[in-house]
Amino acid sequence: DTLDPTSLRTPIVAVLGHVDHGKTSLLDKIRGSAVIEGEAGAITQHIGATAVPLDIISSIAGDLVDPEDFDLPGLLFIDTPGHHSFTTLRSRGGALADIAILVVDVNDGFQPQTLEALDILKRSQTPFIVAANKIDTVPGWDPNEDTPINATYDDQTDRVSSRLDESLYEIIGNLSDEGFSADLYWRVQNFQRNVGVVPVSAMTGEGVPDLLAVMMGLSQRYMKEEMEIDVAGPGVGTVLEVKEEKGFGTTIDTVLYDGTIRADDTLVVGGMNDPIVTEVRALLQPRPLAEIRTESRFEKVDEVGAAAGIKVAAPELADAMAGAPVRVVRDRDLEAVITEVRAELADIAVDTEEQGVVVKADTLGSLEAMADALEEAELPIVRAEVGDVAPRDVSVASTAEDPKQQVILGFNVDVLDDAHQRAETDDVRIFADEVIYQLIEEYEEFVEELER
Ligand code: GTP
Ligand code: MG
Repeated sequence: DTLDPTSLRTPIVAVLGHVDHGKTSLLDKIRGSAVIEGEAGAITQHIGATAVPLDIISSIAGDLVDPEDFDLPGLLFIDTPGHHSFTTLRSRGGALADIAILVVDVNDGFQPQTLEALDILKRSQTPFIVAANKIDTVPGWDPNEDTPINATYDDQTDRVSSRLDESLYEIIGNLSDEGFSADLYWRVQNFQRNVGVVPVSAMTGEGVPDLLAVMMGLSQRYMKEEMEIDVAGPGVGTVLEVKEEKGFGTTIDTVLYDGTIRADDTLVVGGMNDPIVTEVRALLQPRPLAEIRTESRFEKVDEVGAAAGIKVAAPELADAMAGAPVRVVRDRDLEAVITEVRAELADIAVDTEEQGVVVKADTLGSLEAMADALEEAELPIVRAEVGDVAPRDVSVASTAEDPKQQVILGFNVDVLDDAHQRAETDDVRIFADEVIYQLIEEYEEFVEELER
């Protein structure tokens, strides 16, 4: 309908889970299947994301996905490294990830990062399903490449299938311990109320048709209204990463969840101090695999529409923060857009006290998650910032009156060398970890020691 500028955008699916549980392999499998179907070009590689259109999903999922039943254009998968917090992918004014897949290795079960991901999903109320991955590693497993789970399950001996059942029920039990009512996906009626567990193998492709079918069903049934956007409107997105790129200077890898960004747009981007106003210099997409030998890894594009992952090169981005909002100004009032971005940033900002510990984190989202966790532990914060632990953080921590607060907690960040040295002379303790609750545990142990 040409009179109706709204249209359904692609749902954004975050793929989360503990290190090595198979997140990237799962996406590689989906990409690989498309190549086998002779449809490699149909899957587009974005910055930090992979777009899979509906017809490809349907050709991989076979009978499980009839394209006639859906009007969403496909799925945009965002892979997250195991050590990196998914909170990066959240934003105010539109949870960036619409839905999520929590990948759990059936043999390894729940691990620290699994729990952390669950905690974040709980806080952000993001609907998700669990991919119980690596079912092919169950001893005695007889693989049936790329088949739906029921077909391959029926093909296993009783001994093998009961071993798989055991692992699956353990995962369901773990989910229940965390307050989620879960079951094998074919027993779930309402995916908003219950978490569906889908057994899969990223290696053999078994269960991948089911996984795609459940994701499409979940999006279509529960998210459709949220997918209605003004397709040509000024773009709205979130910074995924801030990166130096040879020949382009500082760039922001951005996930666009509304509207469009054009190569001649003015942007307002959340920065360390104040919103940054800048002009797009280039919009960059990864080159298709076939062209990888060419000099530049990137291809310039004139425009991208939501949902998409895009690298934006522009001046003045040095202070941009991962997790911060990005808004296109276009024909609107610049001041009004700056005010919007400032309000979004204030919404994310952490409340600080006169006395407390210093907190550093890699992204705004992870800073927020840290602040939530510290509030629960009733620990006041004196300073909360995005960035590596630097000497000036040590100075701030050293002024605490209470030795228990002469502390820096760093989540997913590096500690600069001179900060280490300074901490030693100033008697400041630095805790750094990639898992929030371990960080807090380490700190609590330290407090116990002090009180002994
Ligand atoms: P990070 O990005 O480091 O967090 O890991 P990841 O979750 O992306 O895991 P990745 O996909 O890199 O897989 C880790 C290892 O597990 C690799 O050696 C994969 O080949 C292997 N693997 C992943 N999925 C499967 C599976 O279904 N079956 C088997 N047998 N191996 C798998
Ligand atoms: Mg990976």
